[in-house]
Amino acid sequence: MAGTIRIGIIGSGGIAGAHANAYKQMPEVEIKAVADVIPGKAAEFIQRHNLIGAVPFDDHNQLLALELDGVSVCTPNVAHHRTSIDALNAGKNVLTEKPMAVTLEQAIEMAEAAKKAGKILTVGFQPRYDPNMQLIKQIVQSGDLGKVYYVETGGGRRRGIPGGTFIRKDLAGAGAMADIGCYSLDLAMDALGYPKPLTVSAYTGDLLGKSPRYFREASHFEVEDFGVALVRLEGGAILNFKISWAMHMDTLGATMFLGTDAGLKVTSPNGVWDGGVESITLFRDEFGQLTDTVVPVRRHNIDRFFEKVKAFVVAIRDGKPAPIPGSIIVRNQAIIDGVLRSAATGHEIDIVIPEI
Ligand SMILES: NC(=O)c1ccc[n+]([C@@H]2O[C@H](COP(=O)([O-])OP(=O)(O)OC[C@H]3O[C@@H](n4cnc5c(N)ncnc54)[C@H](O)[C@@H]3O)[C@@H](O)[C@H]2O)c1
Repeated sequence: MAGTIRIGIIGSGGIAGAHANAYKQMPEVEIKAVADVIPGKAAEFIQRHNLIGAVPFDDHNQLLALELDGVSVCTPNVAHHRTSIDALNAGKNVLTEKPMAVTLEQAIEMAEAAKKAGKILTVGFQPRYDPNMQLIKQIVQSGDLGKVYYVETGGGRRRGIPGGTFIRKDLAGAGAMADIGCYSLDLAMDALGYPKPLTVSAYTGDLLGKSPRYFREASHFEVEDFGVALVRLEGGAILNFKISWAMHMDTLGATMFLGTDAGLKVTSPNGVWDGGVESITLFRDEFGQLTDTVVPVRRHNIDRFFEKVKAFVVAIRDGKPAPIPGSIIVRNQAIIDGVLRSAATGHEIDIVIPEI
């Protein structure tokens, strides 16, 4: 399509500002409206970000009645589902923040709504736009590792429990597994070509989050601060996934891919995958010798957040498919959903995802 790309933003909290700043750098984009359930918040956001001509609303359905080409969904996790589906049903393309949703069922409904509407539903995983993530995928997909039979991913912050809406079950739906876990899952799963998850066996805990010694909002802590899961993937590989918002440890280890011909180890500077890639090492057996090849990390100054918003705008403009399709990210959500269900029941659970 030619001409101006008309955008609406639903939810005007912290991350909406990053969306607005990215859109403002694109001359072809006009932010036409902002909606937030807190009366007056959208208007204040419009003023603060100098979004000249944008209209504030208290209800996202009023925003969706406008002629818009796309919307950014920047609400807390629980509202991604309703607002995205309403936007798709109203004929709008959608960029939703991560995690995609709160349950697998919600994610499936969102992907189905996108298919039915023939509109883009893309999920905002900005680490994908780090050239090193693309390099990791290129190595895994090259076949040089042989058959990949074990993958370990996740990460941990020594102290990093967020407050506010992130620790409320009714707004976030889940804690660390969804908040930062979705990034590590996306790194590993995208590199593998997003195989279907088949079963999950998991444990989650909240011991540090509920302790006033380690978290100032302990009395309000309602989600998990730690989790570990074993996931069987279609094709036979096993994924070991672990995440912590707070722990008495420096790291939960690297992301690694074990293959029959080589192993790949990847580390990140902040222990979680929203902060870039620190090192990539390939372990092999060459000429009867055990070799460790340091793959140079691509140095760059790419603004990954800008790139994710730009990719959405370009897909709308050029009539391209979703850059990070909801129909695939359903598999990421399925693992998080499986973790919570398995941890709640104490049993391994089967994952069933319909064709979308
Ligand atoms: N990609 C990233 O780097 C990144 C970073 C932080 C947060 N996030 C994600 O962005 C989302 C929002 O996080 P945040 O930190 O901005 O939260 P926030 O609480 O600061 O803002 C969310 C806003 O949405 C509003 N809201 C709630 N329900 C709504 C609805 N139905 N319609 C319209 N507005 C509604 C709230 O009133 C609030 O103003 C979360 O899903 C979070 O996981 C992504």
